Amino acid sequence: METNTQINENIGVAMPRIGDKAPAFKAVTTQGEIDFPKQYGGSWVILFSHPADFTPVCTSEFMTFASQEKKFNNANCKLVGLSVDGLYSHIAWLRTIKEKIEYKGMKNVEVKFPLIEDITMEVAKKYGMMMPGESNTKAVRAVFFIDPKGIIRAIIYYPLSLGRNFDELYRALIAMQTADEFSVALPADWRPGDDVIVPTAGSCGVAKERMTGKEEMHCYDWFFCTKKISSEEINQRIIKK
Ligand code: BEZ
Repeated sequence: METNTQINENIGVAMPRIGDKAPAFKAVTTQGEIDFPKQYGGSWVILFSHPADFTPVCTSEFMTFASQEKKFNNANCKLVGLSVDGLYSHIAWLRTIKEKIEYKGMKNVEVKFPLIEDITMEVAKKYGMMMPGESNTKAVRAVFFIDPKGIIRAIIYYPLSLGRNFDELYRALIAMQTADEFSVALPADWRPGDDVIVPTAGSCGVAKERMTGKEEMHCYDWFFCTKKISSEEINQRIIKK
């Protein structure tokens, strides 16, 4: 019997991993052609797939993401969507969203970020967005966080039936930028303003120092120390006004 990995190899489905260079492609989008990730160098990008145009969960997601686009842009992050539908379907769907759909207080929502047409599934397959166990004809809800150097930094997958949590996508973006900017790690459920984790002591001497409590940090034990970074400092260093 074939394993899932063998099935994926047979149908040419790749699974990029965290730390890999984002696979390159050129594509037609609702905002013209793009050369990915080349033209996004210097910015973070969230590349995300949705199963199909003119479907309810996807419509709720696009309205939510488009309403929050400025917030992501202010954190130096651009949004790029993809489904295996064609360009004219994308255009018609985005026009319908703007002209007809009022949902949870959102109306007249204009999707200004590019939505890739991928009828051949070329890009979806390169990024492991096709999951044959879930659907052979629709991409799952994949989210790729790509950093300003074009490296994949985080990947989140949701099934067809579940809309994403956009607060979590923003939290993850700010958390990764905070980790880079301040050389720290972030604990469970971290939000800006919460204590951050300092790198674990790398020598017996440092471990001992940490336990004397002289440094400006709180140590639960020698390997688990936190310090404060205010949300104002994070706003100043990461988020544009
Ligand atoms: C939706 O977006 O509503 C949807 C799309 C594909 C399968 C199930 C739900």
